[in-house]
Amino acid sequence: MRNKTDHRLSAVQHRFFVHAAPFLVFGMWLAACGSHSATDTKFQQYYVQGEQLYVRYCSNCHQKNGAGLGRVYPPLNTSDYMERNLNEVLCIMKYGKKGSITVNGVMYNLEMKGTTSLTELEIAEIATYIYNTWDHKRGIVDLTQVHGALAKCQPN
Ligand code: HEC
Repeated sequence: MRNKTDHRLSAVQHRFFVHAAPFLVFGMWLAACGSHSATDTKFQQYYVQGEQLYVRYCSNCHQKNGAGLGRVYPPLNTSDYMERNLNEVLCIMKYGKKGSITVNGVMYNLEMKGTTSLTELEIAEIATYIYNTWDHKRGIVDLTQVHGALAKCQPN
């Protein structure tokens, strides 16, 4: 009699593990990943897209390695200007910049034409790429930031 009960219990337990355990494990896995992983995925997407856009729209002048070109094109790989002026950099991509600019103590003075066709998303992607490559480790630059920055800058 006792044996029979034990047997029935273990059958229930068995069914529980076979059918419910995978869902439990999956649930724990989801909980462990949480929203952190969604942020990571978005970062990765922006970064990968941003690299392609950088190569297409920026690397002609600033070079693939971000080092710039002599006294003509300022560097992005190490740039105190970039670190201090995120909003301006977002504006420069779209609207360009003229007048002198000092980067790491060196003065540059040649017009950079903006790429007006860039969307806010593309600007966020390029920014996420250049701000997390070489010496920069800012994390994602998102649409809200780009939208806010562009609303304040005028074409020049
Ligand atoms: C035709 C050449 C050219 C292209 C293409 C170009 N830039 Fe520039 N960029 C310049 C020049 C020249 C300056 C300096 C402008 C000045 O003297 O006011 C500059 C300045 C900058 C600066 C601020 C200075 C620094 O080094 O931190 C950033 C950031 C920047 N560019 C990023 C970009 C990004 C991102 C792209 C692509 C979307 C891009 N540039 C495309 C020539 C270019």
